[in-house]
Amino acid sequence: MQGSKVVAITGASSGMGEAIARTLAARGDRVVLGARGEAALARVGGEIRAAGGEATWRLTDVARRDEVSALVAHTVATYGRLDVFVANAGAMPIGPLDALAVDDWELMVDVNIKGVLWGIAAVLPVFRAQGSGHFIAVASTAARKVVPGMAVYAGTKAAVAAICEGLRQEVAGEFRVTTLFPGYTATNFADHVRDDGLRAQLAAGAAIAMPPEAVAAVVAFAIDQPEGVSIGEIVLRPTAQG
Ligand SMILES: NC(=O)c1ccc[n+]([C@@H]2O[C@H](COP(=O)([O-])OP(=O)(O)OC[C@H]3O[C@@H](n4cnc5c(N)ncnc54)[C@H](OP(=O)(O)O)[C@@H]3O)[C@@H](O)[C@H]2O)c1
Repeated sequence: MQGSKVVAITGASSGMGEAIARTLAARGDRVVLGARGEAALARVGGEIRAAGGEATWRLTDVARRDEVSALVAHTVATYGRLDVFVANAGAMPIGPLDALAVDDWELMVDVNIKGVLWGIAAVLPVFRAQGSGHFIAVASTAARKVVPGMAVYAGTKAAVAAICEGLRQEVAGEFRVTTLFPGYTATNFADHVRDDGLRAQLAAGAAIAMPPEAVAAVVAFAIDQPEGVSIGEIVLRPTAQG
């Protein structure tokens, strides 16, 4: 039923994760927010509560398996169940391979790939015990269209798509799996890009970016399908994005 779910969201302190949390809480879902920045988490969670919504939060670095497990355990301890897990947190310090920013490569693998895997590891036993659940991951159109400077980022997002499709097949009949492929979205994601040329390219993209609420609406749509209907993949991008 719409607005009655317990939903844990990683990367919920800004951008898409924040929009997903606010959108779901506004219609009555109970949201559990995870991210690394305490002040931003408390701001978003506090504002949701002040608006009459139900929210709790926990500091979570998705690169750490124990912290993702703790987010899920906190959710179950607080609300007695977990209906939806949104693996949204992502790192985007993109740049050309020959810049040899190998620490950035490692970060993207740790956050974008392993972070999603730790989410799967944490929710599988919970969903199995409940006999239901919904795992939603945020990939990117970069998984489908690779451009120079985004090789590692695109590779991590293609990995997310492959892992989630494998998960969907393995748990068919038990719980639902949805992968989102957003295009340019107006968030803070370009802040961590060191390469001046790429930052300028992203700034140009920002002119056509869609609001993060567009992604939140798609998450709500996927959740709201009847239990017997699983939305596997959704690609959404600004109409102006080529
Ligand atoms: N914006 C776009 O155009 C676009 C397009 C396609 C896909 N995406 C994907 O959308 C997702 C959300 O990104 P966004 O655009 O909303 O960017 P954003 O505004 O920068 O938000 C990123 C969120 O992830 C959190 N985060 C970063 N590293 C984390 C970690 N290790 N553990 C836990 N939380 C972490 C951040 O909070 P803390 O720093 O406090 O942890 C923040 O809440 C990402 O997976 C991204 O790859 C973005």
